[in-house]
Amino acid sequence: MKHKLKEILDKNRCFIEAGNLPTYIPELSKANKNALGIYIVDLNGEEYGEGDYEYPFTIQSISKVITLMLALEDRGAEEIFKFVGMEPTGDSFNSMMKLEIVRPSRPFNPMINAGAIAVTSLINGSPEEKFQRILTLFKKITNNDSIKVNHEVYLSEKKTGDRNRAMAYFMRDVGVLQGDVEDNLDVYFRQCSLEVTCRDIAKIGAFLANDGVLLQTGERLIEAKNAKIAKTFMVTCGMYNASGEFAIEVGIPAKSGVGGGIMALVPGKMGIGVLGPALDDKGNSSAGVQILSDLSNLFNLSIF
Ligand code: DON
Repeated sequence: MKHKLKEILDKNRCFIEAGNLPTYIPELSKANKNALGIYIVDLNGEEYGEGDYEYPFTIQSISKVITLMLALEDRGAEEIFKFVGMEPTGDSFNSMMKLEIVRPSRPFNPMINAGAIAVTSLINGSPEEKFQRILTLFKKITNNDSIKVNHEVYLSEKKTGDRNRAMAYFMRDVGVLQGDVEDNLDVYFRQCSLEVTCRDIAKIGAFLANDGVLLQTGERLIEAKNAKIAKTFMVTCGMYNASGEFAIEVGIPAKSGVGGGIMALVPGKMGIGVLGPALDDKGNSSAGVQILSDLSNLFNLSIF
């Protein structure tokens, strides 16, 4: 297995060149463009890593899957879907276009920035409690107590996050965002700036592949129906406006982040974490997508 993973990484190293480090969050442009890693957590208990699977990066949009599950547990699906829709946009992850032109005014889904900010506002607790509950859930799922915020990335996001800010203020005006705008954005920026490795996100994938039950203890943290909603959004919206192509080429639930990570899973089988900080024009890891495509074809992983 390890040998096969190395072959896949080496074969797809060339796709790094086709991507670019993001600059709209200046701190992210300091990442090592050439880092490339993969980690697999098999539900049978086997784990395999290759390349830079211990290289730290910020989780970014992959966090949206966790906050969605937490909000669903807190408020129930019926309540959450009063504030956020269930449909892909076909637009970029930070687009605000449809927010105003489509009625009722609410974000199309919880994976785009607007939807994720609204979802964070729906998590129970004060802003500090919200963040601590998100962090606690992360630590439990990854079985990693040392996960923390990358402070430089957090400050960089906060300083340059005017597009998110604009959408959040708009959403408060139309009654979608609950509570104070800046407080909610602060939680969102912190959740996006959590520093992880391929191993951590592979563990999140395995947790979802296991329907919301912790592999290490057998403890159910998330109801199966909520894990199912999260996985479904990963298929329809997880790779943003490349989700359709990804479903055809790779065919497994996946969620990308602008830190270069992709968290993926094969239901009932495994969680996969991939890292390649150079991004394509949709904001997905350019080499990461190719690595998952080869992995899926080699082991016949597509769920379709
Ligand atoms: O709000 C943002 O733009 C970032 N913190 C997260 C965006 C992101 O990761 C999109 N993913 N590909």
